[in-house]
Amino acid sequence: MHDFRFKKGKLYCEDVSIEALAEKVGTPLYVYSHNTLRRHFLAYQKAFAKVPHLIAFAMKANANLAILRLFAKEGGGIDIVSEGELHRALAAGVDPKKMVFAGVGKTRKEMQAALRAGILMFNVESAQELTALDEVAKSLGTKAPVALRVNPDINPKTHPYISTGLKKSKFGIEITRAVEQYQLASRLSNIEVVGIHSHIGSQLTQIKPFVDALKRIGKLIEELRGRGMEIKYWDIGGGLGITYDAEKPPLPKELAAAILPLLKESGCTIILEPGRSLVGNAGALITRVIYTKEGETKNFVIVDAGMNDLIRPSLYEAYHEIVPVVKKKRRNATVDVVGPICESGDFLAQERTLPQVAPEELLAVLSAGAYSFSMASNYNARPRSAEVLVHGDKYATIRERESMDDLIRGERIPEFLDFGQS
Ligand code: LLP
Repeated sequence: MHDFRFKKGKLYCEDVSIEALAEKVGTPLYVYSHNTLRRHFLAYQKAFAKVPHLIAFAMKANANLAILRLFAKEGGGIDIVSEGELHRALAAGVDPKKMVFAGVGKTRKEMQAALRAGILMFNVESAQELTALDEVAKSLGTKAPVALRVNPDINPKTHPYISTGLKKSKFGIEITRAVEQYQLASRLSNIEVVGIHSHIGSQLTQIKPFVDALKRIGKLIEELRGRGMEIKYWDIGGGLGITYDAEKPPLPKELAAAILPLLKESGCTIILEPGRSLVGNAGALITRVIYTKEGETKNFVIVDAGMNDLIRPSLYEAYHEIVPVVKKKRRNATVDVVGPICESGDFLAQERTLPQVAPEELLAVLSAGAYSFSMASNYNARPRSAEVLVHGDKYATIRERESMDDLIRGERIPEFLDFGQS
């Protein structure tokens, strides 16, 4: 559920009018609700209250400092996947002892930075990464706390681009090889085995694959302990889906009900890495109609947000509900909502039935809090949009709109290209 609601025919985020926000801050504009974000976080805290746990927000879904701070204030940790994410998390004031570091391609430089920061643990995805981490830890005179990311070979029944727990996926260590890799880890003198990790995919709408994966991991934990290894932390990943259209994904409390007995029995501290389910429905992308264009076979609504602002429809054929910000009585039309970018793949919706809209009108693209701004780019030399966080009847700009100078920052024209030189 979220806090974008119509009041007297006009869309509000909490108690702030979207029309007024667009007027003040301009469009395209990302708007987030503090209330929704906090409520979603607390739903996880409550659901897992019966086991020692850490909710480590997967910040790849939304890396804005203010949002990281919001979760940190509630006691949350962070799941990072790069040195850049570490830098952001530290800048937001997140306690490094609540950070876990995942990813198949951590460089030695990234390992160094995370070891120096003193993170909780590395989720290691291959034997080579393990030996590299051992060497880096040795060079710093320290020990690296490690969980192995185990690939449980479960089909999460989601979009192939966001399935991660199948044998053929690049992620993790195959479950059949896990014991052998743990043995390697325990032989390395600068590695300290502390946990186990798995993550099978994103936008999961069924609970069964999640539970099946954790049952497999639960058995593995027993086996590892039988072989003298200490598994203190069980990181069960993220992945719960959200409602974009008509999906009915499980809620944190439903997931908890299905897996708590298993988790409790393990005696582990449980780490969760939700991303989308914390932030997805807490955000909307506000865009203004520039033109409408009626063709013989198609009608287009051309808006000022493009695939550089929100790439999910183009990349995954993802559905985002779109609503006019001001409700009026009018007929419906079937349209493609497209951006200004020079690509046919630049669309926010195709063949969508929407109320007939006019130039200058505002539209809200809903459920755009996750993997939306965080995947934005400067393609077509378009400045990235501003982001605003609403709290009751107040709002704060939590990221300024990029300027034209931001677009060329860091670029240099070498001397040999001076006009007049050959
Ligand atoms: N943990 C790991 C190791 C992950 O790889 C991911 C997401 C998460 C946690 C968080 O998963 P979530 O709770 O958000 O489902 N860009 C795609 C989604 C990519 C997900 C990548 N990994 C999209 O827009 O749908």
